[in-house]
Amino acid sequence: MDLFQKREQWQTSQGFILATIGSAIGLGNIWRFPTVVGESGGGAFLLVYLIIILILGLPLMLGELSIGRRGKSSIIGAFMSIKPHTPWWLIGAISVFSGILILSFYSVISGWSLYYMFSFLTGQFQGAGIQEVQNLFQSFVQRPFFPLFWQGTFLFITLCIVMRGIHKGIERASTVLMPILFVLLFLLALRSITLDGAWEGVLWFIRPQLAAINIQVVLGALGQVFFSLSLGMGAILTYGSYLAPEDAIPKSSLIISLSDLTIAIVAGFIIIPAVFAFGLEPETGLPLIFITLPLIFGSLPVGQLLGASFFILLSIAALTSALSILEVVVAACKDTFQWSRNKATLLSTLIIFFLSIPSSLSMGTWEHVRFWGFPFLEFLDTITAVFFLPLIGLLTSIFIGWIWTPHKCVQEITREKVPFPLSSIWSFLIKYVVPISMLYILISGFLA
Ligand code: PHE
Repeated sequence: MDLFQKREQWQTSQGFILATIGSAIGLGNIWRFPTVVGESGGGAFLLVYLIIILILGLPLMLGELSIGRRGKSSIIGAFMSIKPHTPWWLIGAISVFSGILILSFYSVISGWSLYYMFSFLTGQFQGAGIQEVQNLFQSFVQRPFFPLFWQGTFLFITLCIVMRGIHKGIERASTVLMPILFVLLFLLALRSITLDGAWEGVLWFIRPQLAAINIQVVLGALGQVFFSLSLGMGAILTYGSYLAPEDAIPKSSLIISLSDLTIAIVAGFIIIPAVFAFGLEPETGLPLIFITLPLIFGSLPVGQLLGASFFILLSIAALTSALSILEVVVAACKDTFQWSRNKATLLSTLIIFFLSIPSSLSMGTWEHVRFWGFPFLEFLDTITAVFFLPLIGLLTSIFIGWIWTPHKCVQEITREKVPFPLSSIWSFLIKYVVPISMLYILISGFLA
C-alpha cells in the first residue's frame, strides 16, 4: 500500500482555500438550502443552522483538515496511518460508500442544471409564465432517457477531469468563475427582493420563529450543515491531506465556512422572496429552484442570457463539488486495491452511473415508487444528509476527542507556530459538545 508515498501539495494557501470553497459551494447552497428552508419553516431553520455551523460544523472542519494533513493519505489510509491495526479505517469505508450514494443523485440534479443552461441558450423559456415553466419542467423529468442523457454528460465531464488528476485547469477556472457566480447571485438576490410581494418572503426567511423549532428542523439543519460544508464524507479530509505544515487550518476553516454560509443565505434571498412574489408554495421540494429561477429571469431584461450564464455557473459550481466527491472514492480505491487512477475512476463512475438511474427515473415515471415515503432520489438525499454524514461526523469527533486526542490534534494544527487562540474551547467542543449533541440529535430525530 502506497500510504507514505510523497504527496502532492497545494501550490498556495489561496489555491487550497479556493478548491475547498469549490467543494463546499455547489448545489447544496443553491438548490438544497432554499428547498430545506422552504420545507422547514424559514426563520426557525436559519437560526438553528447558524448555531450548528458554529458549534458543530466549524470544529469538525478543523478536525477533518488536521486528520488529513497528519494522515497524508486517502480517507481510509489516513485513519490507518494515525491508528494502525485498529478498526477506525471503517470510518473511511462508510465515507466512500456515502460518496457513491451522494454522487449518484447529485449528478442527476447537475444534469438538470446542464439542461436548463441549454434551454436558456435556445430560448425555450422566452416569455414563459408560471404555467409554462411548470410544464416545461414536468415534461423534461417525465421523459425516461432525456434527463439520463444530461446526467451522463455531467458524469462524463467529471470523469475526464478526475482521470487527469486534479487538473490545474479546473483550479484556475474556479478562481475566475466562482467570483462571477457570486456577483450574479448578488444581482439576482437584489432583483428578487424588489419583486412585488417579495417582502413577505424576506420576513418569512429572516424572522426567527422560535415556536416552529422542533427536532425534525434541528435534524434537517444538521444534515444541511454537513452536506453544504462537504463534511463527514472525506472530501475536506482528503483536501487537507495536500496541505503544507505552515498552512493555517483555523483561519482557512473560518473562511471556507463563512463563504459557504454567505452563498447559502444569498441563494435564500433569491429563491424565497421569489416564491412568495409568484404565489408558489415554499414547500414545493426539490424542483423549487428549477421553477422559481426561470420566472425571475423572465422578469428581467436580457433574462435569457442571464439565465443561460447562471446555469453555466451553477453547473460549474456543481462540477467542482462533484470532483471532490469522486476524488474521495477514486483515491480510496487506488490506495486499497492498488488500482491505477484510470481504472479506479472508470469503475467508480460506472457504478455511480448505474446507481443514478433509479434516482433519475424517480423524479418522473417512477414517482409513485416510494422508499420510506420518499421517491428514490429524495430518499438517498435524506439518508445521506441526515444519517450517513452526521454518523461519520460523530465517529470522527469520537476519534479525535478520545482516540487520537485533542492535544495531538492541536499539536498538528500549531506546527510551524500557526496561531490557534481558541484551542481550549475547540478541544472542549470536539471532545464533549460535538459527540454528545450529535448523538442526541440523531437518536431523537429518528425516534420522533
Ligand atoms: N458541499 C457540496 C455542495 O454544497 C456537496 C458535497 C457534499 C460535496 C459532500 C462533497 C461532499 O453542493
